[in-house]
Amino acid sequence: MTISPSIMTTYGRIDIAFTHGEGSFLVAEDGKKYLDYASGIAVNAFGHCHPKLVEALQDQASKLWHTSNLYRILEQETVAEKLVANSCADRVFFCNSGAEATEGAVKVARRYAWANGEKERTEIICATGAFHGRTLAMLAANDRPLFREGFGPSAQGFTHVEWGDIESLKQVIGKHVAAILVEPVQGEGGARKAPEGYLKLLNDIAKENGSLLISDEVQIGMGRSGTLFAYQKEDIEPDIIALAKGLGGGFPVGAVMAKAEVGDAMVPGTHGSTFGGNPLAMRSANAVLELLLENDFFE
Ligand SMILES: Cc1ncc(COP(=O)(O)O)c(C=O)c1O
Repeated sequence: MTISPSIMTTYGRIDIAFTHGEGSFLVAEDGKKYLDYASGIAVNAFGHCHPKLVEALQDQASKLWHTSNLYRILEQETVAEKLVANSCADRVFFCNSGAEATEGAVKVARRYAWANGEKERTEIICATGAFHGRTLAMLAANDRPLFREGFGPSAQGFTHVEWGDIESLKQVIGKHVAAILVEPVQGEGGARKAPEGYLKLLNDIAKENGSLLISDEVQIGMGRSGTLFAYQKEDIEPDIIALAKGLGGGFPVGAVMAKAEVGDAMVPGTHGSTFGGNPLAMRSANAVLELLLENDFFE
């Protein structure tokens, strides 16, 4: 069967369609069973149809799906408190994808500088090999020019330094730098782990310069590195963390986490999301977090 022409051709899709999944396995239309190494691109942290996730979503689906962020969302407060209790962050904003999380993180960093009267501090330093998403601004944060081709003027305010090379960072750091945006392990860049001590040096240089450190944990966060967040392997506390993928276990959920002082630069009206953190999404994220935080999970 060929792929419907009604689908925009943004992907070179493989001609297999799955009908259901169970644990680490997927079953295709023809009944063939596949061991799912791709995990929905680092999303299905607990495989397919984990009973706890199914139960949480089914229960919430029969109660309340969506209300908007005009009101309190108790399920959101529960998830935010769990994330805060298990990280160096104090504030959480919920969105729906990784690109929204990284872009939100950049907004928070720039707004924090602006709120502190540093209106020229807008630059974001990224690394070669980086991938931070597909929104117009994040195209400029990505390393590969190919992603930007044909999409008009590139967003300003992003500089790239050689991944793992502190000297190239030292050459561009300055009072104009709002934040260093880095993946502790590059995902799309080829599963590249930061050289030993690199994150710590980035963190120290950022702090010395009055800049923030943003840890893009969209792909490597939520336990994929062996700790809940990858930055926890180093002796550092990023100012902002971007999260998505595994957080919802398959339901679209993203998050921007920030230290109190930094997050508090975001006052009502500065950012928002219609769907972000709705009750259905939050029940999924809560179930994922409960599983991850069970006593012996990381052992
Ligand atoms: C490190 C990193 N950041 C951001 C993104 C963008 O996430 P999304 O595709 O959910 O927008 C990705 C996606 O692969 C990623 O790996």
